[in-house]
Amino acid sequence: MSAAIKEVKKVTTNTLQKMKAAGEKISMITAYDFSFATIFDAAGIEIILVGDSASNVMAGHVTTLPITLDQMIYHAQSVVRGRERSLIVCDIPFGYYQSNSDIALASAIRIMKESGANTVKLEGGEEVIDSVKKIVSAGIPVMGHLGLTPQSINKFGTYVVRATEEQEAAKLRKDAMLLQEAGCFAIVLEKIPAALAKEVTDSLSIPTIGIGAGGHCDGQVLVMHDMLGINTEFKPRFLRQYLNLSEQVTGAVQQYIKDIKSKDFPNESEQY
Ligand code: KIV
Repeated sequence: MSAAIKEVKKVTTNTLQKMKAAGEKISMITAYDFSFATIFDAAGIEIILVGDSASNVMAGHVTTLPITLDQMIYHAQSVVRGRERSLIVCDIPFGYYQSNSDIALASAIRIMKESGANTVKLEGGEEVIDSVKKIVSAGIPVMGHLGLTPQSINKFGTYVVRATEEQEAAKLRKDAMLLQEAGCFAIVLEKIPAALAKEVTDSLSIPTIGIGAGGHCDGQVLVMHDMLGINTEFKPRFLRQYLNLSEQVTGAVQQYIKDIKSKDFPNESEQY
């Protein structure tokens, strides 16, 4: 190999499996564009999720339901261009896998072929097992997603913690095992009690990635707009906000406006 070609050790589903076995926690964050994906990848994040939360944070919809497969592919293409080593997971959006496994496979193939993402994610357990099996058998790694599954918000009616009752907890335990048996390489557990997430995590050989599911999961994921403080309206208990970008950007733009109005910008050295 020429010295000019940088050797980058890419994160694969295998890497994640080894991390779980070694007890090393997995970091995951959402991204929807080239610029942030470049920053997150260079910062050392293991997984970048092109989440269908793009529907909320990029497009301003109230739910994740309206985003289309074409739009998800567009976001994933942009993220893939910024990636050197992170594993890229792309959500299959609502309406592109629920009706049958052939449609699910066709959607997953479009994501892989057109965006260059490494894997896909879909929501649900037993109901989507045939689709998971079909996608996995085509050589496409699948990440599962259980607990609060935002594509089912109209069924839930609310974003409260899921599986607090034994019946729903029992279904979640069973679904997690079914997803593992169907070939999922990891499962997102969203907004469920920490004790249940621990039980599920301990029972599986594949990694769990938690969001509002406590510290026993094998990894954690947050939506970038929430953890960077771009979206300041959303303050659930599980969220740790690392920056207040909204405030900082507002300050910067207000200063920019002031500098233009006062004729301070551009100055002598900022012109030709
Ligand atoms: O779409 C998304 O951002 C997600 C995360 C909340 C896990 O699915």
